[in-house]
Amino acid sequence: MRIPDIAPGGKVLALGHYQPSHVVTNDDLAKTMDTNDEWIQSRVGIKERRVAPDGESVEDMATIAGGKALAASGLSPDDVDLVIVATCTLETQIPNASAVVAHRLGITSPGAFDVNAACAGFCYALGTADAAVRAGTARNVLVIGAEKLSQWVDWTDRSTAVIFADGAGAAVVGRSETPGIGPVVWGSAGDKSDAIFIKDRHDSLHQEGQTVFRWATTALAPVALEACARAGVDPSELAAFVPHQANLRIIEAIARKLGADKAVIGRDIVNAGNTSAASIPLALSRMLERGEVQSGGLALVLGFGAGLTYAGQVIEIP
Ligand code: UT7
Repeated sequence: MRIPDIAPGGKVLALGHYQPSHVVTNDDLAKTMDTNDEWIQSRVGIKERRVAPDGESVEDMATIAGGKALAASGLSPDDVDLVIVATCTLETQIPNASAVVAHRLGITSPGAFDVNAACAGFCYALGTADAAVRAGTARNVLVIGAEKLSQWVDWTDRSTAVIFADGAGAAVVGRSETPGIGPVVWGSAGDKSDAIFIKDRHDSLHQEGQTVFRWATTALAPVALEACARAGVDPSELAAFVPHQANLRIIEAIARKLGADKAVIGRDIVNAGNTSAASIPLALSRMLERGEVQSGGLALVLGFGAGLTYAGQVIEIP
């Protein structure tokens, strides 16, 4: 037996994102359900979100975001050995999204699998991609978070319909002489599996908002600090903190406990809503595009959601 060439590190080479064009404002929602802009902004932090039309699928959004990340990396489809799509909102049970997206992007016969760790999915997939690159089982990996939550929410349920949205974000992970992705800290709290669920294909998303809120604002700051410690990075060195865009109050509560004084905090939820596994790469890609963060800085990413699941790591911004 021979062990393949071990790489010293993995690195995010490039990012890409996609959002459907249709904007839904809080005032739009207030026309069809008992809610209002003031409640949504003060409780969740969302001003507007994007909703994909009928016919635009998770795979469609994933393909566009993935194609942009691949183009930005300068690699060709032949350079990619593995495609991972993190999603929990596929229309179909089989086939998976990864093989479909890879085929559409002209990536020939890569390893292809989906990850369902709900809103933590992107960080799980990123940790897996980093391990594959370092172990020498893939030269480059395309990691995509893509969700169409609009097809799994009950549009008459104001407690969920105002929160969730659609979109996709992607990262290309490749080899690096120095580590550009820190060790992933991942875990779960299956005792709270009832806190967020979709029972079956005829059901829509249910959430015990306060249970998840309390858990997120107490259990996750230690995970964030652990991800920094395992990467050997002091929070004061972080250029950005980009957690899952679940709720602005959760984001700010964790950020306060982190003590990352110089970090730009990802607040993409304001205009993008909660896009589950897509929210972290979508936020970071948009922050980079707007010039809010610079290439080479260190960003802490932290996903959390149904399961309950969580995962986070420090990465170098591409
Ligand atoms: O992404 C996956 C992970 N998920 C999360 O991290 C979600 C964590 N939880 C949360 O973000 C928050 O708990 C929510 C945003 C879901 C809800 O905010 P909250 O401050 O916990 O509100 P609540 O559920 O305690 O509801 C407070 C009140 C209730 O009315 P009463 O019983 O006090 O009269 C609700 O019926 O607000 C009412 N309410 C609304 N009012 C206007 C609930 N939804 C709405 C709404 N508009 N959309």
